Amino acid sequence: MVREWDPRAASSAELASLLDTLNAVLAADLPQDPPWQGSHLREYLSEVMPGERRIAWVAQADPAAGGAPGPILGHGHVLLLGDIGVLEVLVHPSVRRTGLGRDLTRVAARRVYQEGFQSIGVEVVGGTPAVAFYEALGFSREYVETRSVLDLSVVDWSALAEMATGVGAGYQVRFCPGGPPDDLIEAYARAKAEVRDVDDGELRPSSYDPQRLRDSLATLHRRGMKPYIVLATHDRTGEVAGLTEVVVPAQHPTRADQYDTIVVQEHRGYGIDRAIKARMLLELRSAEPALTEVQTWNAQANEAMLKVNAELGYRPDREWCEYGVDVAELVHRLGG
Ligand SMILES: CC(C)(COP(=O)(O)OP(=O)(O)OC[C@H]1O[C@@H](n2cnc3c(N)ncnc32)[C@H](O)[C@@H]1OP(=O)(O)O)[C@@H](O)C(=O)NCCC(=O)NCCS
Repeated sequence: MVREWDPRAASSAELASLLDTLNAVLAADLPQDPPWQGSHLREYLSEVMPGERRIAWVAQADPAAGGAPGPILGHGHVLLLGDIGVLEVLVHPSVRRTGLGRDLTRVAARRVYQEGFQSIGVEVVGGTPAVAFYEALGFSREYVETRSVLDLSVVDWSALAEMATGVGAGYQVRFCPGGPPDDLIEAYARAKAEVRDVDDGELRPSSYDPQRLRDSLATLHRRGMKPYIVLATHDRTGEVAGLTEVVVPAQHPTRADQYDTIVVQEHRGYGIDRAIKARMLLELRSAEPALTEVQTWNAQANEAMLKVNAELGYRPDREWCEYGVDVAELVHRLGG
């Protein structure tokens, strides 16, 4: 049975059941990824940026003979942001190919349509059944990135320490756990607005103005995701010349996520990308001793960044695709 579901009001048993399903999905589709933990799961599923809304559904098995609620075997949600609904659907491997994924997508698509949005986007992991699923539903591939993973146990720390100091004269590199310092928020937002060398998916919005940046940091914290930032400032102008952001999520604290890395156009060619990323890894080593891996997403055309990541020890893992569909077409196809 598919029903709308509010993670804020959900029982802990429901959250635990959803976590089991999520981990069964990971074990089946991405067996090298660390399983998720229950820490901050409720907040992860319910907290959103101001102006955004997330609507969720679950597919729950019938109650057991004694009346105990059945397990949650499927979950779907849409994040309504800007002019697009970002969809996520997952179905327990033991009940796949029974139409649950299609049912969850149908209710989500109808709602997105009713809310007046025109398109739906979804992140699809290459080499998993989701590719055939979304293609069968009429979604088309719009963008492909490569996810790469760095195994911290094979990092050459002394080489990294050298890279971290290899920045040209006239720049200061600093580590900012928790977020950029308040006096640099405006310069930080300017750097993000000016250039965006995307290290993360297009579906994850970047924050371009100071207020949005503050909101975005506060939302991350509420969702149990700890941001770390290394930035390079330009001595002469005080501007932020480069920045790199890594988030350590409470849900999988052994594998961190690389978010944006940006080097402002006029400050390229001074070794900033390499130095700030190397410094970040050195700092994380002491700030997050339980961390074993970092994952990053890059556009396949972004050769400069791919080269630096390879020097740092990142290894390409798999394709990470964005698919999109017109909502009205999807509703029609699914029988709306
Ligand atoms: C993608 C997913 C949601 C599909 O769920 P599902 O309940 O198995 O899908 P459905 O039964 O509704 O399938 C609908 C159609 O999609 C297509 N399809 C789905 N899985 C397929 C597969 N493995 N191979 C080929 N086609 C497939 C088929 O056309 C299917 O129709 P059919 O069974 O009548 O032929 C499910 O595989 C899943 O949870 N994947 C993980 C998604 C995810 O979030 N991953 C992130 C972490 S890895």
